[in-house]
Amino acid sequence: MAKYRIAWLPGDGVGNDVMEAARIVLDALRLDAEYIHGDIGWEFWKHEGDPLPQRTIDMMKTTKCALFGAITSKPKEEAAEELDSGLKSKKFVYFSPIVRLRQEFNLHTNLRPCKAYPGNPLNFKEGIDLVIFRENTEGMYGGVEFYPLPAEVFDVLDKHHPKMKKFLEYGLENLAMSTRIMSRQKCSNIVTQAFEYAKKHGYKSVTVVDKPNVLRETGGLMIRSAREVAKKYPGIQLWETNIDAQTMWLLKNPFDYGVMVAENMFGDILSDLAAQLVGGLGFASSGNIGDNYAVFEPTHGSAPKYAGQYKVNPMAMLLTVKLMLDWLDEKKKSHDLDSAIALVIRAGKVRTYDMGGKNSTLEIASEVARNL
Ligand code: IPM
Ligand code: MG
Repeated sequence: MAKYRIAWLPGDGVGNDVMEAARIVLDALRLDAEYIHGDIGWEFWKHEGDPLPQRTIDMMKTTKCALFGAITSKPKEEAAEELDSGLKSKKFVYFSPIVRLRQEFNLHTNLRPCKAYPGNPLNFKEGIDLVIFRENTEGMYGGVEFYPLPAEVFDVLDKHHPKMKKFLEYGLENLAMSTRIMSRQKCSNIVTQAFEYAKKHGYKSVTVVDKPNVLRETGGLMIRSAREVAKKYPGIQLWETNIDAQTMWLLKNPFDYGVMVAENMFGDILSDLAAQLVGGLGFASSGNIGDNYAVFEPTHGSAPKYAGQYKVNPMAMLLTVKLMLDWLDEKKKSHDLDSAIALVIRAGKVRTYDMGGKNSTLEIASEVARNL
């Protein structure tokens, strides 16, 4: 029996292209693993009304962790239009399967490192090294939403909050509401993860990014939780910034920041910006990490127009494989993979189109494998 059972979830679009690239590298590293395919994505939404079938969740529960390619996510109405005609009357509601996986497996920590590999022509500047900790299960993406607003919900909010009344003039049928529910436990946890990482990797500060001057309750809870946690790490400074200003400062002074921590939506925004500073989504890896399970995925989407063309840059996926190896405590393999990736980027001979080259997704992976 192999040492690890790993759920293999290509998903949509270029997901499959980059998973093939991952496999070339994993095989070259001789990771002692068995990979089990799982159905997930748009096909299963269209034909079954569920992009994350229960059989996939059951299979994942028998594995150590999962590697995930990419997913197509569309707003509710657009998604409903693409359902098979026989399913249209069944009131299926689309919900992003990756967001659901994060919630169902309580993968509370989304780790998103953004490091400028030397010699990457797409680096905003050389030497940038950022890591984002994004709370992954609640906050603005918690999924508690309403449209139209049910009368009971309106009434109870109206009873408890003076600012509710003014919305009534539009009519409940014209009101949409998405909540931002955050718990002290999850705020403390994500900040703790960030500080632990900073301690382990020698960062001198952790920046907590929110907007407590406006989002006084949720943002306030995040900042207070961060201050509490920071007391346990006397050698590391806590910096507090607002999301709007942080996006500007990150562009202006990217070297001032190391580890950043944020709520779900703010972390989503911040991590795309940070990715662009180090070459774009082609270099952005991520790990959705819980207490006992983890799902590793590149930050990029499914880029349907490139599906099956083996054009896209697999570096994000290969860096994601590195994160998985770290999590599995396969230190040597992780180190070797990182060095090989750095070598291939620095040499600059084999490059995908985004880097100005003509090589395919799989040629990049083979070149990395050759350099291991
Ligand atoms: C990400 C993506 C997802 C998210 C989408 C595809 C639901 O943008 O992983 O950053 O918003 O979390
Ligand atoms: Mg995103």
